[in-house]
Amino acid sequence: MNILVTGGAGFIGSNFIRWMKQHAPEHKLINVDLLTYAGNLESLCDIEQDEGYVFIRADIRDRAKMNEIFQLYDITHVVNFAAESHVDRSIEDPEVFLNTNILGTQALLDTAKKYWKTAPEDKYSRDYRAGVKFLQVSTDEVYGALGKEGKFTETTPLSPNSPYSAAKASADLVCRAYYETFGMPLNITRCSNNYGPYQFPEKLIPLMIHNCMEGKPLPVYGDGMQIRDWLHVTDHCSAIYTVLLQGQLGEVYNIGGNNERANIDIVKLILRTLGRGEELITYVKDRPGHDRRYAIDNTKITTTLDWTPSYTFEQGIFETIAWYQENPIWLEHVLSGAYEDYYERMYTQSFGE
Ligand code: NAD
Ligand code: DAU
Repeated sequence: MNILVTGGAGFIGSNFIRWMKQHAPEHKLINVDLLTYAGNLESLCDIEQDEGYVFIRADIRDRAKMNEIFQLYDITHVVNFAAESHVDRSIEDPEVFLNTNILGTQALLDTAKKYWKTAPEDKYSRDYRAGVKFLQVSTDEVYGALGKEGKFTETTPLSPNSPYSAAKASADLVCRAYYETFGMPLNITRCSNNYGPYQFPEKLIPLMIHNCMEGKPLPVYGDGMQIRDWLHVTDHCSAIYTVLLQGQLGEVYNIGGNNERANIDIVKLILRTLGRGEELITYVKDRPGHDRRYAIDNTKITTTLDWTPSYTFEQGIFETIAWYQENPIWLEHVLSGAYEDYYERMYTQSFGE
């Protein structure tokens, strides 16, 4: 496979590239990332010279560039991670979320359709090259919020509450329409909250680990009793590869590992593990429109594709805390902004792109 990995310099995308290098090194990986504030090539510095891996700085909304990349690398698969991903930022500035997450996805779908259809000019033709696939990486947030009971299944109605999740839900609907109308070979995955190495410290777990290590206040929104369903990022990566290989075309697959935790319990666990006291906990004003609870029913992917997560939450969170302790330079560069110079230094000066 020649896999276009969009957003491969982000948290999950960089972990996916590393996971693929370890578990399926026979595939070519073409990493296309705009390098917004969330893109960090330092997360891939051990891989950047590997054979079968290439990085291109580009915007998924740039149709001419996407077309060029499809042709140059004969792309057979797309795994679309590229997105604006942080709910709090989407509350501050929704527009870029709608732009990137919806129109960016559509630009990629159009490019894939043009390149993969055997008769691209024939609007009635539904024939595509054999074996090609577009995988849209979506999120459980498209389903909205749960009460105390129940879980999200793939047929739960979409009911997004934040500008971020509304943009992701819209992209899912565009994908669905391309499948129904054009026969585009695709899958949509909807995963719960990820945690693990290389996550930008604006998200709950790395933010709390960092503040705890520094002895700074830990800002808990509202009463801290909101529940998220946590999955180690490498389990998300293995699920995506499973769906890429085996997912039935046109199907949606929920991904999750049955690990529901209240935010406050995670914060307390991090404090205990790092030997700090609960006086660092600071309750702050709640996030507007804050979803109370997420929980994934993973029956479909576990029973029809035989996927299972490998991490328990306890093992994953201890490893993750240790990773941030053992990688102070990665964290320091993120916090100082030095990571943003990496592309300029390594790609335009050293590799002469
Ligand atoms: P992230 O913010 O860490 O990474 C996003 C990446 O996309 C960054 O590298 C950024 O530079 C890149 N990007 C942004 N706009 C771009 C554009 N126009 N063109 C090219 N690249 C662009 O996000 P993440 O947490 O790694 O999430 C990746 C995907 O997984 C997202 O689509 C997100 O909705 C989805 N997801 C995330 C989680 C989670 O818990 N983090 C859970 C389920 C689904
Ligand atoms: O469910 C999947 C989603 O998980 C992904 O689609 C998103 O891209 C990803 O960012 C994540 O969204 P959340 O809003 O759940 O993640 P975040 O880490 O921002 O917040 C997790 C919970 O912790 C949420 O209830 C808000 C709370 N929180 C977060 C921060 C940053 C706090 O209490 N304090 C904080 O400082």
